[in-house]
Amino acid sequence: MRILILGAAGQVGFELVRSLSGMGEIVAADRIVDTSLGVDLALDIGDLATLKSRLIELAPAVIINAAAYTAVDLAEDETEIANRINHLALVELGAAARQLGALVVHYSTDYVFAGGDQSPLREDHATGPVSVYGASKLAGERALADSGCAHLLLRTAWVYAARGKNFLLTMLRAAAVRDELSVVDDQIGCPTTARFLADTTASMVRRWLAGPADQRAALHGPCHVVCGGQVSWCGFARAIIEQACELGLLPRVTPVRAIRTGEYPAKAPRPAYSVLDTRRLTATFEITPPAWRTGLRQTLLELAQARQALTGAGFEVKRC
Ligand SMILES: NC(=O)c1ccc[n+]([C@@H]2O[C@H](COP(=O)([O-])OP(=O)(O)OC[C@H]3O[C@@H](n4cnc5c(N)ncnc54)[C@H](OP(=O)(O)O)[C@@H]3O)[C@@H](O)[C@H]2O)c1
Repeated sequence: MRILILGAAGQVGFELVRSLSGMGEIVAADRIVDTSLGVDLALDIGDLATLKSRLIELAPAVIINAAAYTAVDLAEDETEIANRINHLALVELGAAARQLGALVVHYSTDYVFAGGDQSPLREDHATGPVSVYGASKLAGERALADSGCAHLLLRTAWVYAARGKNFLLTMLRAAAVRDELSVVDDQIGCPTTARFLADTTASMVRRWLAGPADQRAALHGPCHVVCGGQVSWCGFARAIIEQACELGLLPRVTPVRAIRTGEYPAKAPRPAYSVLDTRRLTATFEITPPAWRTGLRQTLLELAQARQALTGAGFEVKRC
């Protein structure tokens, strides 16, 4: 069985290659080939004129689309390219999958919601994106559903990993060189590891393949996949720094000052509250997400072990 992973050099794509290895013949594609990241095929999903024919030529049984335009602030100015990659590519991808009879796994975001709520959001909660990025991802969700192809749609949030561009690595870098950080405390969400997302994807695909064909349509539609609990960016930053200090990744606990969104101007608005309810994931796929603190610990341990391997030095857990 051929499994095509799109966006394989990204945070989630990179973990997917690890999580799905052994399930079939993995073809890892991204915009450019990068063998150091395991990417062996160049495939630009924004090239709409050729996307469908390239996919049909490759004839995968499963297409996992972790490629996306993820620059949330830049998207406010680059509307056309965000829409092409996050929305229009899904029209072509869905059409190709339908013709091939392939399963598509696709990722969407908590940014499809407006953020004015106070309790975890179910999959059928009214959407209302407040940014170009959120609107383009919602349009992509709809295009995939409208294509009529077999699909699993995972909505996730606040994704980070031990590599890539993410909040965790930004905080570690900033805390290492600054005496104090200021981080917004009035946006609440669910920090989610790319590793959990990739492992969950593998379990969901296995269940899809093993289940009766006539019951597969019941698995269509969004499914929320995030780590458990909720926290503000400020609370997350404090936890990152405390745990990183315990693991010797930082020399000291840099204080984090809580600020309001208005004090940190960003081009794109973000939902104030976007905690996703994961009951569908548990009821349908029998997966209970780990607490976000557990995911954080695992990711920092991975970083500490990588550093240990590089320097040859040991690390010990200390009280900071
Ligand atoms: N990161 C989050 O916090 C977050 C939250 C909610 C949902 N999600 C969703 O989760 C999925 C994975 O996100 P991620 O964090 O892994 O993103 P990421 O780290 O930005 O990875 C995306 C990958 O897609 C590639 N890509 C971009 N445009 C492409 C194109 N035209 N053709 C082929 N590849 C292209 C990127 O390459 P370049 O680097 O060269 O552009 C990158 O390797 C996305 O659907 C995203 O919307 C992410």
